Amino acid sequence: METNCQDPNKQQNLPDDIELFPNQVAGHRHGQGRLGLGILKSKSGHVLKPLLEDAGRAVKEVLFYENVFLNNHLDLVLEELKSFLPVYYGIQNVNISGKNIKFLCLEDASGPFQNPSILDVKIGPITYEKGALKSKIEEQKSKFAYGEICGIRIVGMKVFDEEKQLYVSPEKTFLRQLSPDTMASALNLFLTKDKFVNCLLLCGFIHKLLKLDSWFSRQRKFIFVGSSVLFVYEGTSSFWKSWICDKGLSDTHYSNGIKKFDMKQNTPNVLESVENKNTCVLCGLDKNVCTEVLTNCNLFRVNMIDFAHCSPSEEKDTNYIIGLNKLIDYLKGLLNVHKENL
Ligand SMILES: Nc1ncnc2c1ncn2[C@@H]1O[C@H](COP(=O)(O)OP(=O)(O)O)[C@@H](O)[C@H]1O
Ligand SMILES: [Mg+2]
Repeated sequence: METNCQDPNKQQNLPDDIELFPNQVAGHRHGQGRLGLGILKSKSGHVLKPLLEDAGRAVKEVLFYENVFLNNHLDLVLEELKSFLPVYYGIQNVNISGKNIKFLCLEDASGPFQNPSILDVKIGPITYEKGALKSKIEEQKSKFAYGEICGIRIVGMKVFDEEKQLYVSPEKTFLRQLSPDTMASALNLFLTKDKFVNCLLLCGFIHKLLKLDSWFSRQRKFIFVGSSVLFVYEGTSSFWKSWICDKGLSDTHYSNGIKKFDMKQNTPNVLESVENKNTCVLCGLDKNVCTEVLTNCNLFRVNMIDFAHCSPSEEKDTNYIIGLNKLIDYLKGLLNVHKENL
């Protein structure tokens, strides 16, 4: 039988119904590193995350997903949490090079998109667990010097460039060298070339993050360390253009609407009282349009991922809340810039 040495799936000795996951932007890569295991994809379209047997991380992530998805009692806090997570389908065994390896089987957040642009942001100024070894603390600090000040860390990104028909990803070293001064412009790299689409996207992202913040202000079940928010949007600009056209929207229509506001007093309360109640306080568009962006699963997604260091706790997760609010502030800043430049 002829073997194709160029095929990375064959090189990794993967079964026929399993392939490398093409949309992984960060984390442990398959065939690389000490453990050699990373994210895979089943032919049925599910993401497979290996249960790495080091330092109890695998156990923690399984317990987390099982706690949330296999809980038989109706728990409103967990029900709400599910809306931020990829669906959990249980554990799948995969035979790799004669070894039986266990994988978490998850919904693919990038699945609904033709050309997904993807961003992985680690949340929280502290990315090591309570009681972590000094060496672990040093290792985490060495990965990103400004983690405690920025409250977030961009760990991976890929952006679809439609003109060139390829993906662009910032170098890891560039991401590690970011600072409070450069974080916003790095987040801006994730956006499109169209300011109007960027306003819709940023508004959608912020709305989702505010909902997540509201959940965090109430939940006393978990502490999330080193966990990420994964942003995905449709990178095909023609897709957005036809959606915008179908809704009868245009950027001039939008910017004329925006100019009615006094941008200098751009606080929610002022906007609410100055303009009519049907206008979104974040982007200034008709609220119905924002609702349609938010409820259309083919435009964008915001998911929590990576629970390898998530533990049960009865305390408020202030570390996550600090990071999340820093991220919301960065995105609000970008939204204002894009709105003003329309
Ligand atoms: N459910 C998912 N849907 C889509 N992509 C995912 C999903 N889970 C993980 N990924 C991709 O894999 C990467 C690594 O996942 P993560 O759970 O953070 O693993 P690690 O513990 O190795 O950091 C993410 O940055 C993302 O690109
Ligand atoms: Mg990760």
